[in-house]
Amino acid sequence: MRTTLTGNESAGVSCFGQHPPGARCRSLRDMRIVAVPCLPVEGLVLRPLEQSDAEAWYEYVAMPNVVSETTWNLQSVDDIRPLITWYNSEEPASGIRFAISSLATGRLVGTIGFHTISLPNRTAELAYDIHPDYWRRGIGSACCSAVTAWGLSERAYVRVQALTLVTNVPSVRLLEKCGFAREGTLRSYRIVGGEPRDFHVFARLPVAVSTR
Ligand SMILES: CC(C)(COP(=O)(O)OP(=O)(O)OC[C@H]1O[C@@H](n2cnc3c(N)ncnc32)[C@H](O)[C@@H]1OP(=O)(O)O)[C@@H](O)C(=O)NCCC(=O)NCCS
Repeated sequence: MRTTLTGNESAGVSCFGQHPPGARCRSLRDMRIVAVPCLPVEGLVLRPLEQSDAEAWYEYVAMPNVVSETTWNLQSVDDIRPLITWYNSEEPASGIRFAISSLATGRLVGTIGFHTISLPNRTAELAYDIHPDYWRRGIGSACCSAVTAWGLSERAYVRVQALTLVTNVPSVRLLEKCGFAREGTLRSYRIVGGEPRDFHVFARLPVAVSTR
């Protein structure tokens, strides 16, 4: 379901999916996106990530407890700025990243989006992080469901995949909860903390596809 938002009609921005009462999607700089995913979580909204989010994003992705089970390895906020530029690029295959933002305060609650987008194959990889102040409130799984549905429908992806360290219990549980199927384990796939580590591959397809 797509709901056109009054506040954004002039910008041609609409909202994909159910939208909480009172919520408004913000205007879009990235014109590759014509409809942002709507988040069925009261008081929160998804919008494209902007350079002005850099400090707030860095503030929590620099925390050891947030990144210990990920491949993040940032030295300063300056490492994050080019990333946001890339997410906002007009280049068709560049990544897409949404800010999860508080409607009341504008505070950055988390981010979620796609990278490793293949246009010929219509596939993309999902990535996400939530500020630890907001963990275990169902926000991660609500965002994962909304953004995956948006990718499969609005972007016509035929596969959304997610890689996660086998030891990242919250991430594994989130993906299982959002209907992602675990397809296998990539052994010694990436170096994390100086050691080769195993990652699970999860994926969601638009419809159940039999083995071919
Ligand atoms: C992974 C992450 C996004 C989950 O966000 P969240 O908003 O806390 O997730 P939810 O509240 O929607 O919880 C999803 C599921 O995971 C479970 N879960 C969350 N944290 C957990 C923990 N520390 N231990 C066990 N289960 C956990 C929840 O209980 C829930 O399952 P349930 O409904 O069956 O109980 C968050 O922990 C995070 O940002 N981690 C750091 C960054 C990261 O690891 N990103 C992913 C890289 S692949």
